[in-house]
Amino acid sequence: MNKRISGFSKLNKAGKIKWIVKTFYKDPEAVMNELMSYWHSNEAEQKIIDGFSENTISNFILPYGVAPNFMINDKVYCVPMVIEESSVVAAASSAAKFWADRGGFKAQILGTRKIGQLHFKWPGKALKLRARMDDIRERLLNDVADITRNMEKRGGGVREIELIDFTQKMDSYYQLRVSFETCDSMGANFINSVLEQFGQSLQSFVLEDATFEGDEKDLEIIMAILSNFTPQCMVRVEASCPIKDLGTFPNNMSGETFARKFHDAIQIAHIDPYRATTHNKGIFNGIDAVVLATGNDFRAIEACGHTYAAHEGRYRSLSHCSIHDGIFKFWIDLPLAIGTVGGLTSLHPMAKRSLELLENPSAEELMQIIAATGLAQNFAAVRSLVTTGIQQGHMKMHLMNIINNLQATDEETDALIAHFESETVSFSAVRTKLEDIRQSKNRRINQ
Ligand code: MEV
Repeated sequence: MNKRISGFSKLNKAGKIKWIVKTFYKDPEAVMNELMSYWHSNEAEQKIIDGFSENTISNFILPYGVAPNFMINDKVYCVPMVIEESSVVAAASSAAKFWADRGGFKAQILGTRKIGQLHFKWPGKALKLRARMDDIRERLLNDVADITRNMEKRGGGVREIELIDFTQKMDSYYQLRVSFETCDSMGANFINSVLEQFGQSLQSFVLEDATFEGDEKDLEIIMAILSNFTPQCMVRVEASCPIKDLGTFPNNMSGETFARKFHDAIQIAHIDPYRATTHNKGIFNGIDAVVLATGNDFRAIEACGHTYAAHEGRYRSLSHCSIHDGIFKFWIDLPLAIGTVGGLTSLHPMAKRSLELLENPSAEELMQIIAATGLAQNFAAVRSLVTTGIQQGHMKMHLMNIINNLQATDEETDALIAHFESETVSFSAVRTKLEDIRQSKNRRINQ
């Protein structure tokens, strides 16, 4: 069977599905029906979803959950989370409640600037270009006036334009590093449009300006694009309480022992990148889930977070812990470039609902909610790790997934849960036990 095709993108949706099921599946009709069963029942909504991407043939369903009781700066939120991993929403909810009972999370915005870069090659000396930077700035800003007008009305726009000389690293390579305020939008389109116009204007400037001669007239634009590293677009969230108020933990662990072990666990994630990666993955379990639920770009958020985790030259924990004068404090500083207007946030029907659930926050408020969810997630994960171990909670959820997968009845589910309280969970152990339950039931019926 020929698995290559030309003109696939030109086929309509039905044509695409037909070709796929015929070419790749043994049971084309069943697969076609299955793919179509996930189409949205409302045609107009489906059209919007199809429009987000290309070559769409169906929708991929993920669970949409909520974590209530998030108290952030004395306001209570019910946080929407889209995630496929069991235990994450339960862990976020439990940590949110734990901290709500101890004053909640305190959050502050440390900055909202975003960065864009115009990368170019130019054979002249940096000094000469630098001497003309005031006029270059003026020309560039004038030329983007049509693009920036609306953003400026909302309080945003271009803030700084800096020339960076990278010629020591690469022959003739310079960069304009531009900082932006994009208000409640993530701003990627705005930033990229401004940068592309800057590229054209900069080329014209050197061509027209009498200071530049000969090959100095040749300025080559390599590329113009925002940077997803946004260390000036930053939020800080913390949770703290006296150690005596931490309470007690499983296996009769005291608050003091918990605080010490928790503190050690965070230090370990600052020392060892192998642990830091897993530790930060736990933080992103929470962050990504809210970023996805609100229609933001989780790849951008992850890329930025991991770069920040390595900004001191070594990859380390994004969260911090201190114990001073009997006070346990746990916090995170996180660069987060997200939006609550524009992009998918208003187009995706569930992203709109998520924002409504959060009472239509500004981008700054959403940054605080997302970071608090990441911190809560991290608290819950490390709390489990230093007390019961992670498997106890995980396995409970895992057991439920297996039970659902095996399509056990309510009565069988109760029996399985009771049995696996004290037994090790695995798919085959649950299947065998379910067979036992069914067989003994049949025997009872036939007696
Ligand atoms: C699992 O998805 C996340 C954890 O591994 C995070 C951690 O180890 O801190 C539990």
